[in-house]
Amino acid sequence: LAYRDYLRLLPKTELHCHFVSTLSAARLISLADRYGVELPTTDPEELFAYDDLADFLVAFRAATDVLRTSEDLATTAYDGVRAAVIAGNLRYREYGVNPQYFAARGMGYREFLEPVIDGLRAAERDLGVGFRLVVAINRRESAGSAVELVEQMISHPYPEVVALGQDDLTPENTEDPGRFAEAYALAKRHGFHLTAHAGETATASAEDVRVAVDVLGVDRIDHGYRVLDDPELVARLRERQLPFATTPLSTRALSGWALDPGHRIARMIRAGLNVSVSTDDGVFFRTDIGREYSEGLFSFGIDAEGAKAVALAGIDGAFCDSDEKARLR
Ligand code: ADE
Ligand code: ZN
Repeated sequence: LAYRDYLRLLPKTELHCHFVSTLSAARLISLADRYGVELPTTDPEELFAYDDLADFLVAFRAATDVLRTSEDLATTAYDGVRAAVIAGNLRYREYGVNPQYFAARGMGYREFLEPVIDGLRAAERDLGVGFRLVVAINRRESAGSAVELVEQMISHPYPEVVALGQDDLTPENTEDPGRFAEAYALAKRHGFHLTAHAGETATASAEDVRVAVDVLGVDRIDHGYRVLDDPELVARLRERQLPFATTPLSTRALSGWALDPGHRIARMIRAGLNVSVSTDDGVFFRTDIGREYSEGLFSFGIDAEGAKAVALAGIDGAFCDSDEKARLR
């Protein structure tokens, strides 16, 4: 028990956290009620149980629809930081934000981002938790609209918006990261960091991870579990120490993987890859950054030295400047 408390209290960063999923369950349900948004179910036991990633994304998309006003966004941002400080001693977090979900409802890029940034800045001031934002391409949308999204990043710069990513799934429920090569090339030319969800579930492969690295030129991978199916790629990415932002408890919810020493994340750590852990979607997987360590890493059989290495990987792989990294270390 003492070791699990240590894991929970260790100072932490997380690099892979979808902003919408920092909502509390109570607020998700009350906002859905207020705006008449139909959730797949209002029974929490069912609302937070999924057949697979595609099934989960139905619930996730419904949740994006409950954040309608600036106040909804700013309050969610602030309260989400406070909850993570209490749950797991969070010190720094990178958020995936997906403006295309909000654009589809008539909310513009700046209209969406500014209250999020305001709420997170207020939390940083009050609680000392730093942050950066990763703008995510929605894979359900076209390659052309992804380029338009990057053009928005370029024409409306914010100091905290430092990277491009991609999430959701294509309409065929595949990853196909290479589809967005033009958007990534444009973001890279303008100095943004690059990441991508790749190699996550059964509809993905090691080839998706390889394409993200070799075609898109990412400097980090979200998930990446399928990399293990290509030993040559593992060797190459170990050599490069390319950061993997993994999410232990989400894999149990979406892929049914037991949290034990045979888990893909445990194997990635043992293979010498650069692995950090994050919540992905806290409210949906009923997790928090404390539990990713005290339940996830603990069940993987990671010892104190290993857990410290994972926590340091969460600083090493961050897209912030070296001053911020020095503060976190
Ligand atoms: N959107 C929110 N969580 C996601 C995940 N784990 N994979 C892909 N898209 C997502
Ligand atoms: Zn994710």
